[in-house]
Amino acid sequence: MRDRFVVEGLNGQKTLKGEIRVGGAKNAVLKALAATVLFEDDVPMTNVPDIEDVKRMHELLDALKTQPTILKKDIAEKFRASIVLTGPVLARYGAVEFPFPGGCVLGERAIDLFLNGFRAMGATVEEDDSYFKITAGGGKLKGARIVFPLVSVTGTETLMMAAVLAEGITVLENAAMEPEIADLALYLNKCSAKIEGAGTPTITITGGGLLHAGGISYDTPPDRIETGSFAILAALAAEDVTITNCNPGWVEVPLALLRQAGVNIETGADYIRILASEVPYKMVSVRTHEYPGFATDLQAPMAVFMSQCEGEGSILETIFDGRFRYVDDLVVMGAKMTVMNPHRVLVRGPAELSRKNLTSPDLRGGLAYILAATVAEGTSTIDNAYLIDRGYQHIEERLQKLGLNIKRESVE
Ligand code: EPZ
Repeated sequence: MRDRFVVEGLNGQKTLKGEIRVGGAKNAVLKALAATVLFEDDVPMTNVPDIEDVKRMHELLDALKTQPTILKKDIAEKFRASIVLTGPVLARYGAVEFPFPGGCVLGERAIDLFLNGFRAMGATVEEDDSYFKITAGGGKLKGARIVFPLVSVTGTETLMMAAVLAEGITVLENAAMEPEIADLALYLNKCSAKIEGAGTPTITITGGGLLHAGGISYDTPPDRIETGSFAILAALAAEDVTITNCNPGWVEVPLALLRQAGVNIETGADYIRILASEVPYKMVSVRTHEYPGFATDLQAPMAVFMSQCEGEGSILETIFDGRFRYVDDLVVMGAKMTVMNPHRVLVRGPAELSRKNLTSPDLRGGLAYILAATVAEGTSTIDNAYLIDRGYQHIEERLQKLGLNIKRESVE
C-alpha cells in the first residue's frame, strides 16, 4: 500500500483564501537532531515538523544507542541528511561506520568533501562494498583549516559539528551560509560550544568538551523552502492568502522575482500576504545559487510559476545536475518547456495545463506537481506521496484549509 494525492484543479482561477502556517524547517531540525550526539544531556526541541525524514533520523539515533559508531544501512540509505550524523559520532566516539547516504536522486551527490574534511582532521578512511569506516587518529579529531573546493550545506554542518568536540581550532573556508547553519551555531553556542562566523564563508570553531543543554530548548526555525513554495502557490492560485509563522527575510530573492513578475506581495515581520492581481504575470528567469541566492529546492515549484507567465525565460540550475526530472511531466500537462542541457531549461508561457496522473520524482518535484495540478484543468493524481511527506507535514490538510480540493488516498 502507498499513498497518493488527488487534486481537483482550479483551471487557472485564483480562488484560494485564508492562512497557511509554515512548519519547522526540515533541513534545520535534522541537523539539530544529529547535534544531540554532541551533548551530555537531553536537548529539548520545539516546532519539530511531523515529517518522514525526522522519523528516520530518530530511528538512526535510537539504533546508535546499541551500536554507538554504526549508522544502520537500511535507514541511512533512505535520506541524505543521515550523513550529518557522521561528524558528531566520529568526534564523540572516535570512529564511525556508514553506508553511502540516500535521499533524492538529484544527479551525482558525492561525499568526497566529508571524507577529505575528516582526513584533514587526522582521521583515516576505509571503504568496503557497503560501508565507509572512519577512525580518528588517537581516538580524537584534531582541529584543522579546511578549504571547501565547493560550497556544501551538509558538508559545512557536518564538519562544524565535528569540530565542536575536536582538539584545538578548526577553520572552515568557503563554508555554506544558509540561515539554518547560523541558527544551529547560535543554539550550540548557548550550550557552551565556541563557534564564530556561522552564516559567513569563514567559520571558526574552538573545540571543547561535551555540550550541556541544561534545559535550553532548540526552537526549530521556520522552513524557508516551505515558505517559498507556499508563496509560489499563492502567486498561482490565491485570491488572498497569508503565509504565517515564517521569516520573509530568508526568502528575499524568490519574493523579489515574484514581485518582478507582477505578483502582489505584502510582508510583515513573520508573514507574507499574497493577493490576486488582474494583470498577467511577466516572465522571469531564474539562476539557482547557494544562499542567499535563489534556492535550488525552489527551482521546480518556480518552473510551474514560470509556465503561467507571459514571455520566454530560462532556468539555470547551478547546484545539481539531474534536477529537471519533473519537466517531461509538466510538458505532457501542457507546459512549454525545453531542456537544453542538464543545467538549463527554457520556458515559454503562458500555457494552459491539463490533468495528468503523476508520480512524484523527488521531494521538491512532488510539491511542484501539486502546484501544477492546482493550476490545471481537471483532476490530477500524484503518486508516491511518501516523497512529499518526507518534507511537508500533512500538506493536504493545510491546503484544504485554503479551499483546495485535495485528498490523500491509499493505492495498492
Ligand atoms: C542540502 O543538500 C539540502 N539537504 C538539499 O535539500 C539542498 O538542495 C542542498 O543542500 C542545496 O541547497 C539537506 O540539508 C539535508 P550540497 P546537500 O552538499 O548538503 C556537491 C531537499 O529537497 N558535493 O550543498 O547534500 C553536490 O553534489 C534537499 O530538502 C560534492 O561534490 O547539498 C552538489 O552538486 C534536496 N561533494 C553541491 O556539492 C560532496 O562531498 C552542493 O551540494 C558534497 C557535495
